[in-house]
Amino acid sequence: MKTRWYKDSVFYQIYPRSFCDSNGDGIGDIKGIISKLDYLKSLGITAVWLSPCYKSPNDDNGYDISDYRDIMDEFGTLDDWKEMIEGMHKRGIKLVMDLVVNHTSDEHEWFKQSRSSIDNPYRDYYFWRKGSGKDGKKPPNNWTSRFGGSAWAYDEQTGEYYLHLFSKKQPDLNWDNPKVRQEVVDICNYWFELGVDGFRCDVIIYISKQEGLPNAKWNPFTCGDEYFVIGPHYHEYIHEINQKSWSKYDIMTVGEGQGITVADAESMVAEPREELDAIFTFEHQEADARMSVVPRKFKLSRFKKIMTSWQNIPNTCWNSLFLENHDYSRSIPRYIKPEFRKEGAKMLAVTMNFMKGTPYIFQGQEIGMTNIEHFKPKDYVDIVSKNVYKIAKKIFPLVPVVKWALQKRARDHARTPMQWSAEENAGFTTGTPWMYVNPNYKEINVAEAEADPDSVLNFYRKINKFRVGNKIIKDGTYNEFYAKSDKVFVYARELHGVSYLVAANWTHKVVEFDLPEQFKGKTSKLVMSNYFDSKEEAGDCNLMPYEAVVWEIK
Ligand code: GLC
Ligand code: CA
Repeated sequence: MKTRWYKDSVFYQIYPRSFCDSNGDGIGDIKGIISKLDYLKSLGITAVWLSPCYKSPNDDNGYDISDYRDIMDEFGTLDDWKEMIEGMHKRGIKLVMDLVVNHTSDEHEWFKQSRSSIDNPYRDYYFWRKGSGKDGKKPPNNWTSRFGGSAWAYDEQTGEYYLHLFSKKQPDLNWDNPKVRQEVVDICNYWFELGVDGFRCDVIIYISKQEGLPNAKWNPFTCGDEYFVIGPHYHEYIHEINQKSWSKYDIMTVGEGQGITVADAESMVAEPREELDAIFTFEHQEADARMSVVPRKFKLSRFKKIMTSWQNIPNTCWNSLFLENHDYSRSIPRYIKPEFRKEGAKMLAVTMNFMKGTPYIFQGQEIGMTNIEHFKPKDYVDIVSKNVYKIAKKIFPLVPVVKWALQKRARDHARTPMQWSAEENAGFTTGTPWMYVNPNYKEINVAEAEADPDSVLNFYRKINKFRVGNKIIKDGTYNEFYAKSDKVFVYARELHGVSYLVAANWTHKVVEFDLPEQFKGKTSKLVMSNYFDSKEEAGDCNLMPYEAVVWEIK
């Protein structure tokens, strides 16, 4: 039944609100996606991960779902969606949807029922508790929301609190209730019957909470983690969904794995466990941040150590390769000096795409879109940025620190509208865009990249073509060299005596490269590089700023 097609795929992530607006209301939509399917095909990607497009009041841009079986009004209709998936399948592109079932919207019918009275049959779909403290006016425990503040909200109607690990409008579902798990199975099967090829499972590792919901060690950002990150019944519940739904179709699942380290990999994704097929780890995002929020100087050796540890997970497991998504700022300027935008973006593409795993390109990454250079507080629209800023204003000395952190890390950077052309609003909409357009769209856009044979876009096309179906990249061993270097990332992939040696200069200066001993005196040729005059045969050389080369060596 399972062909595990995803092992040979290149994914493209669409954040629908910011991708393409077809009707001038300033909001990206499904017809907009349909109009770009030929573009996606031309890019050589073979699967799409679509961020949520279900009915939602948009407290968190669709990650708060009020109806799992229908499409958000602003995005179109279920018929539009059917036309979209058909168009994808016709072009050989699979569609993976976002499954957001740690929580629903507070406007979901289940929650409306649940909050209406303590004996409503849906009461136990969520976590309701009485307040604590002498007068019962304190939240039931000290857990914090990942979006700031307490994880509990008081509800007048029944005088109890409900748990929300994200915003107040995202109440957590109670997975200990077998009915909730059956709902998840039914939702998955509903979409599989409509042709969906898999799910990216949103904050899936939070679904099982420690019985009794005990107080946790205090920490303003992650208080409670030890009681719900891969909680007591996590594996059991995921296996159950797998058995009742996922295993019955030739689909893939990839879980979002905040806080997952390489030590967890095997228990999370090893094939014999029949749980998830793959996971997104965020460990490498820590290379330039602490706890994913506090920026620090990027250190290549730290980054490589994490990447390499994941490359070496057991063969029963599978990796996800990504630098960007809708929750992180852009890799330019995170890893690359903007003056070297094109060389740098291509170097990152080489480094990531010769590794083992399934690569994900986030919309705009393929043209080297960048962060906003100077974000003003009023331009932030993300709920997290706004919350953090509000908290900072209460503790005034925090304002400059928070401004600095948001400028580096805000999720808004990734969510600015896709830059299609140099026309007004980057060709994203003819109306007023729902969010700030990066002013650099006049230089950085798809139309410009199409016209330039040397563009980042055309480089991604080349890489995708090279990668899909390539056995060495899919199955080869991984070996790293010069692990301690903070300048170069060098690794080899080998299968049946043929190697790809990848050498990437992660700095804006020229660096000397020494060919590792074991490759000396062998036959070699250059198969990929981001400079016209890279060395044709493997050997010692100078690597130019952000130069990346791949030699095939026999
Ligand atoms: C995940 C999503 C993020 C969302 C959160 C709550 O982390 O990627 O965008 O805000 O879950 O659903
Ligand atoms: Ca629209």
